Amino acid sequence: MSELLKSINQIPNPCFVIDEKLFIKNMLILKKVEDLSGCKILCALKGFSMWEMFSKMSNYISGGTASSLNEAKLINEKMGKKAHSCFVAYSEVEFNEVQEISSHLSFNSISQFNRFKKKLNGSVKYAFRVNPQFSSVSFEKYNPCAEGSRFGITEQDLPKDLPKQISGLHFHTLCESSAKDLEDVLKEIEAKFGHLLQQASWVNLGGGHHITKPGYDTELLCEIIQSFREKYNIDVYLEPGEAIGLNTGYLVSKIEDVIKNGFETTAILNVSFAAHMPDCLEMPYKPNIINELSEGVEITLGGNTCMSGDYVRGFKFTATPLIGDIIVFKDMMHYTFVKTTFFNGVKHPSLGLWNDQSGFKLLKEFNYTDFKYRLS
Ligand SMILES: Cc1ncc(COP(=O)(O)O)c(C=O)c1O
Repeated sequence: MSELLKSINQIPNPCFVIDEKLFIKNMLILKKVEDLSGCKILCALKGFSMWEMFSKMSNYISGGTASSLNEAKLINEKMGKKAHSCFVAYSEVEFNEVQEISSHLSFNSISQFNRFKKKLNGSVKYAFRVNPQFSSVSFEKYNPCAEGSRFGITEQDLPKDLPKQISGLHFHTLCESSAKDLEDVLKEIEAKFGHLLQQASWVNLGGGHHITKPGYDTELLCEIIQSFREKYNIDVYLEPGEAIGLNTGYLVSKIEDVIKNGFETTAILNVSFAAHMPDCLEMPYKPNIINELSEGVEITLGGNTCMSGDYVRGFKFTATPLIGDIIVFKDMMHYTFVKTTFFNGVKHPSLGLWNDQSGFKLLKEFNYTDFKYRLS
């Protein structure tokens, strides 16, 4: 058992806790990919924005990618770097500020490019986000290239030659994907857009690369990127979100009540799936918890909001858990606290950092003021 889990009783509850050792393990994998493939890796803040980790992250990977002005500002302030910006849409009021703090900026549509092209300046590298209309992602909600997708310019709408202001191409096609999936999508991209790649000096291959997942073929990834770089004489960027925080921390919670109703026994938590782990309901998926059994008494874990669907079924325990028992959700560092809400005003889990030598450090505790001033 890790040092963090041995000390779980001393950690404020509820709390998202990142384990620095596990985070650095991911960073080392990503750095090796940068070193061996020659690509640059950017953290997609939409997936992981715990900025306490940004200075450490900067020792391993090259920067950050922003999907909004707020994220771009956070990259500037906390990484000390200009952002790679790839917004679904830039707005008139924000565009100049985004440009000032970005080194690279991708347009999601031709109409966005046309709208802002008079404002472009020489210090930013611009790209078209391209939709190859091909992806191995079977789950439609997470497929950026699903039919009718609002993301990226399709083949039929792209000009034969890149406008003089555009030096790059941006593709985001993957989700929790393997190196082989990237290989497949690149074949399609080359067939459709090879002539544009010849004209570009940089390409961003988006996120969805599950690089830090055990079993991911990093060797194949490095080979693919290296040969792509050489073939097109092009700089390659990857912008994973999930792979940054994958398996690096927990949501520590506890049971506040146990309710039996007919066939169902629900342990009510001091956290909510809807407000704190929304992907469990959106996707949906059943998160893993520490000490879960494959067989035993089946319990539903219920969130503490009024939303009827705020529960996940099928957790197995040796016996019905008791009020006060601690439940530790695994792998809760990506797409969790970047998506949380104050729905029902329920207590927002604290944010904390665990280091095996120095122990627990509280980064942020949320209080009534945080709740109140989101509302007016
Ligand atoms: C444009 C873009 N880049 C990068 C990412 C990060 O993807 P992931 O967290 O799956 O690696 C996303 C996720 O939605 C995205 O839309």
